[in-house]
This record gives sequence, structure tokens and C-alpha cells, in this order.
Amino acid sequence: MNVKVNDSFEESSLAAADLIIETVKEKPDSMICFAAGSTPIRTFEILINKSKSSLIDFSNCTFVGLDEWIGMDKNDKGSCQETLYTSLFVPLNISSQNIHFFNTKSSNLRVECKKIDQIIANNGNIDLMLLGIGQNGHLGFNEPGVSFDSFSHVVNLSEVTKTVGQKYFEGSRELSMGITLGIRHILDAKCLIVLASGIKKNKAVYEMVHGKITNEWPVSILQTHKNCQAFLDKEAACLLNEAQ
Ligand code: PGA
Repeated sequence: MNVKVNDSFEESSLAAADLIIETVKEKPDSMICFAAGSTPIRTFEILINKSKSSLIDFSNCTFVGLDEWIGMDKNDKGSCQETLYTSLFVPLNISSQNIHFFNTKSSNLRVECKKIDQIIANNGNIDLMLLGIGQNGHLGFNEPGVSFDSFSHVVNLSEVTKTVGQKYFEGSRELSMGITLGIRHILDAKCLIVLASGIKKNKAVYEMVHGKITNEWPVSILQTHKNCQAFLDKEAACLLNEAQ
């Protein structure tokens, strides 16, 4: 894992956008997985501006969703899908044929998991993932205790995720279960970009970079990935400095 600590979150977002552009230029038909959440939003804005100046063309890319709250879709304000559509896919005019999300309203979520696993397998793994990290060290909804061999699965969300997740919604929401790509998808992805910002992420960042590799901190497995670039701001990285 390659770690870069930037003075500001803006610098991290610019660097992440540059790396995404470089990757898509090399492989214009990349399969891409962008996390939702707050952290990637600034990177998305930068990508939209670059796309307006024709510096990047996503029209041949395929997008696969990382995770979703069970029972929600793109009509639920604050859901992962709604966030990605509003902040990226609609402004970029991405064809819906090129976007694959879990249908969390399916009566058979196991089949949904298999469907997404197959779409990824047909591509021969994901080319590029942009990930945030949870305060509890989760990746997507791969919560503490997850198997490092997992593919797509349904998960009982941790208390931390249920509490922190309220920030995405206007009123309070009952959050209990999620569906997510697995750790295997993340490990098999050809290029990983991880963004973390703010003091609340400092412990998870520490475990990601220096921690023992354990499924109690899912982020720690990123240490084993051959092509993982983390962009951190000073606040998120503050425990790394103390460790040096
Ligand atoms: P955030 O979420 O970007 O909203 O902080 C990250 C995550 O929980 O993975």
C-alpha cells in the first residue's frame, strides 16, 4: 500500500481524480466501483469538471455499486444509489445500461449477490475502485468480523454503521441491514484508491497502515494489496505521525 498524506482534503481529492483519469485513459472500458458516502463527493465534482473539458470520457466504462442499505434504491434520498446518481452518473450522463447495482428490494437477495458477482467475474474483476473507510474500519459494508474470502453478501450492520449512517438521511431512518461487494472483490481489483479525511477516521487509518491484519479491522487487509494508493489528510493521518 502506498500512503500519501496531503495538507488538505482538496489535494487528496485532486490526486484521486488524477489517478482515476489516468486509469480510464489506459483502459477506456474499465469496470469501476465508486463508493458512495461523503468522502468521494469532492472527487466526483472534479471528475465532472474534467469531463466537461473533455479531459476524461467515462462513456465506455461500466459501473458497479459497492453497497446499499437493504430496502433502499435510487428513489431514497441519501441511499448509496441516489448519492451516486445525483453526484456523478446524472451529471456525466452515464447510460443506465452501464450501471449495475444490487436490487435491495428483491425477494431473493442471494440471487442478487450472485448476479453482481457474475457481472464482475464476466469482466475479469474490477479495474478500479475508489473507497472510503468507516470509523470502525469497514470497507463498503464489510463490517468487523467479515471473512476475507467473501464475495457479495447481505450483512447485519454494526452499531457504529447504523449510528454514523444517519448522517446521510434527512430524518432518522431505521438502518439494520446492508448488501455489499465482498473483501474478495476488493482484493481482486486491479487498482484501489482509498480516501480518508478528518479526525474521526484516525484510528481506522492507523489500523489500515500499521495495524495487525485482522478481520476485526477490515481495512487492515488493504496492506496486502499490490496496487493500493491511499490519500489522507493530516487529521486522518495524525496517529501515523505519532507512530513514526
Ligand atoms: P463517509 O463513509 O465517506 O461518509 O465517511 C465512509 C464509509 O463509511 O465507508
